[in-house]
Amino acid sequence: MKIIKCNTIEDVGIAANEIMSEMLQSKPNCVLGLATGSTPIPLYREMIKDFDSGKTDYKGVVTFNLDEYVNIPTDHPESYNSFMFQNLFNHVNINEDNIHMPNGITQEECDEYDKSVMDCGIDLQVLGIGSNGHIGFNEPGTDFSSTTRIVDLAASTIEANSRFFNNDTSLVPKQAMSMGIATIMNSKKIVLIATGRSKRDAVNAMLNGPIDAVCPASILQKHSNVIVIVDQEAGENINK
Ligand code: F6R
Repeated sequence: MKIIKCNTIEDVGIAANEIMSEMLQSKPNCVLGLATGSTPIPLYREMIKDFDSGKTDYKGVVTFNLDEYVNIPTDHPESYNSFMFQNLFNHVNINEDNIHMPNGITQEECDEYDKSVMDCGIDLQVLGIGSNGHIGFNEPGTDFSSTTRIVDLAASTIEANSRFFNNDTSLVPKQAMSMGIATIMNSKKIVLIATGRSKRDAVNAMLNGPIDAVCPASILQKHSNVIVIVDQEAGENINK
């Protein structure tokens, strides 16, 4: 895995965007896998800046998001659907027909989503990482051969995400539809971004620990094209 250490959160966004804009420019009809949460926001800001300056174009771009809460209305302010429109899609010229958000509760719907992802083939997958080492919502203990399915969120994830729900864990959805680890691993290229002290141990376990379901992100050690971009706080324990 290639590791890029940056000083600030903004620098992480800029470094990730360099990889993104190279993809958008070299393959105008590329397929992007996208993440939500706090970490990718600086990246999405940079992507919007590039679009505004005419450097990139989203006419032919296809996107698949990693995950979405179950039983949350699409237009709920904290749905990942709302997040993506607010933070990226409303600001670029992407064709809405090319946007794919996981939105189901049955295994059949999950299988259909998985098949679309696999058929299209993700060129560049953006990942964050949970402080418990999850990628997507593949929580510790997830089988590395997992595909898209409904998952129960770990207590630590519900706690971490309560910041978006008035700090009230009872308001956080308890389940999500998530791409599986095998689905993510099928991406041609992956950029994982991590910022802040709370990600330090997970980043260290991902890079230096054994490949073990205890830290789902550790499977990325087996992928041939992963770039990990961290700020100083998240990267402090990196020693290789
Ligand atoms: C979000 C996702 C999650 C987040 C992770 C980190 O689509 O798949 O794995 O990337 O929970 O979230 P933040 O960035 O909010 O710390």
